[in-house]
Amino acid sequence: MKRTSYAGLVDEKLVDQDVVLKGWVQKRRDLGGLIFIDLRDREGILQLVFSQEFSKAAWQVADTLRNEYVIEVKGTVKHRSEGEINPKMKTGQVEVEIHEAKLLAAAKNPPFYIEDNINVSDELRLKYRYLDLRRPEMQKNLKIRNLITRAVHTYFDNHDFYDIETPDLTASTPEGARDYLVPSRVYPGHFYALPQSPQIFKQLLMGAGFDRYYQIARCFRDEDLRGDRQPEFTQIDMETSFLSAEEIQDLTEGLLKQVMHDAMGIDIKTPIQRIEWQESMDRFGTDKPDIRFDMELKDISDVVKDIDFKVFQNAIANGGFVKAICVPGGAAKYSRKDLDAKTDYIERFGAKGMAWIKVTEDGFTGPVGKFLKVKQDEISAAVGAKPGDLILFAADSFKIISDTLGYLRNSIAKEMGMIDESKFAFIWVVNWPLFEYDEGIKRWTAAHHPFTMPNEEDVHYLNDGEDPHKAHAQSYDIVLNGYELGGGSIRIHTREVQEKMLKALGFTKEHAESSFGFLMHALDMGFPPHGGLAIGLDRFAMLLAKRDNIRDIIAFPKNSKATEPLTNAPATVSDKQLLELGLFVNKVDEDK
Ligand code: AMO
Ligand code: AMP
Repeated sequence: MKRTSYAGLVDEKLVDQDVVLKGWVQKRRDLGGLIFIDLRDREGILQLVFSQEFSKAAWQVADTLRNEYVIEVKGTVKHRSEGEINPKMKTGQVEVEIHEAKLLAAAKNPPFYIEDNINVSDELRLKYRYLDLRRPEMQKNLKIRNLITRAVHTYFDNHDFYDIETPDLTASTPEGARDYLVPSRVYPGHFYALPQSPQIFKQLLMGAGFDRYYQIARCFRDEDLRGDRQPEFTQIDMETSFLSAEEIQDLTEGLLKQVMHDAMGIDIKTPIQRIEWQESMDRFGTDKPDIRFDMELKDISDVVKDIDFKVFQNAIANGGFVKAICVPGGAAKYSRKDLDAKTDYIERFGAKGMAWIKVTEDGFTGPVGKFLKVKQDEISAAVGAKPGDLILFAADSFKIISDTLGYLRNSIAKEMGMIDESKFAFIWVVNWPLFEYDEGIKRWTAAHHPFTMPNEEDVHYLNDGEDPHKAHAQSYDIVLNGYELGGGSIRIHTREVQEKMLKALGFTKEHAESSFGFLMHALDMGFPPHGGLAIGLDRFAMLLAKRDNIRDIIAFPKNSKATEPLTNAPATVSDKQLLELGLFVNKVDEDK
């Protein structure tokens, strides 16, 4: 029998018509003469009715069915009787009286129920991912992801972009993470690296004259995993020649508009707000601000500089600042114990403490209230506080304050229910510093990547004798609801500037040549000005599907330990394979 409809799409329009359906048994209710089966497929769940009156043979099949059996049925769509209507189900107005039924496959008892809101470990979900993916919410997540990629192809096709693939077996690209390496059999001791992004190749494509490139590209980065990071992820990657940063941002906004429309039915307003990196840090304490709520950071250094409170005095004397956020209505919500817990938490950012006061009709209260009372009107005015509010203070270096108050702003907004979860708030953060200091490796690194073009007026900072770290870049990030959705830049397109940039990053001439010689030779050969951007597809899908982990919108993701419980990757390989690759493994004794 040929299927005539998805079960989940059967509705009142089909009443009195015959349908052929195929899918999984979600649930079986046996009332003796009548058997109800909930049939599930990609599009939803539909109630089937089996009765000896309609067909004895079909009823006998129904009598043998268990959860997750796969069946094929033919029947007539009927209105449900008044009391049987289920407004919670999309198909709740109708049911199908079954005349024919066939069992296509039996199933063992699944290790968890195939329904939303299951309470099982992520490990079990990943081990039986094909069952986990049967759950309606997971089907919906992958549907959203598909709608996004479809909109991406439509948009770029309508804007004259070529879809061009770049290699997965390549040499290391400097995106900042550790590479995944693939040993070469032909050249023992030599390795390919999996691309951290197609960055260098897409630039070379600009040199090759394909002035509008895009690709939905796989990227691989061996870095510490978090909820919004996977070792293997996907970028919506693009590059263009001859366009300014603003023009690339405009093109990106068109893409975002198309995706939001096609995947979500939402028309977003453009132009999207653009703020400078410095302003973002000042106001939100982060370069990926969540602008769905206010509670901005206020610099009150000037207001408090003369107050006799050592904590503030010392910070200012050491070249630091005093900044604060005001939590509207926070006085009643947070106890001293809650605030102590927060103070402990922010130690990880290097904060030495968290002074706080509660604003009452009678003025400031709390442990440091007595110090700050002398300026309570000025402080309240500076942070916009009124009775019932809570004010949190950070006195430290700009970096520690930003990390601390940036974190507190986000977490408190969540706890206070200040975030409108139905909103999608995009914002551009532009004009980034060219370099950032990496505390881990104790040196300056490229804030975006080493091919990012400084602002024209800042190029001279790369000259000998000047401070390159003062330079800002023609780079831009697109941020959605407090997540870095994507980033890009205008690229360096002359050897001269590229050499200076690599030098500023600490490359010797020889090292620069051996790592990026091929790129610089290309730049010698008539290379157009160019720039582009990459959006994290997984993060985009995660945010549109309203999930907080990108695992939920990837069909077969890695777990938090970078392994894949379904296939057990990574796994050991045979000695023969190792020998062929010329590899010797220093085996760890797994019994220990
Ligand atoms: P960048 O490194 O900023 O830029 O990456 C672009 C976007 O990719 C997403 N992303 C990730 N998503 C999931 N898991 C990860 N581990 C991960 N790492 C990054 C983020 C990020 O904004 N070649 C440049 C782009 C360019 O300049 O055109 C690049 O890769 O959403
Ligand atoms: P102390 O004088 O160290 O006992 O701190 C007095 C109050 O100031 C306590 O509430 C501390 O949590 C807070 N505090 C200490 N250092 C800082 C800082 N750098 N920024 C903000 N508050 C601080």
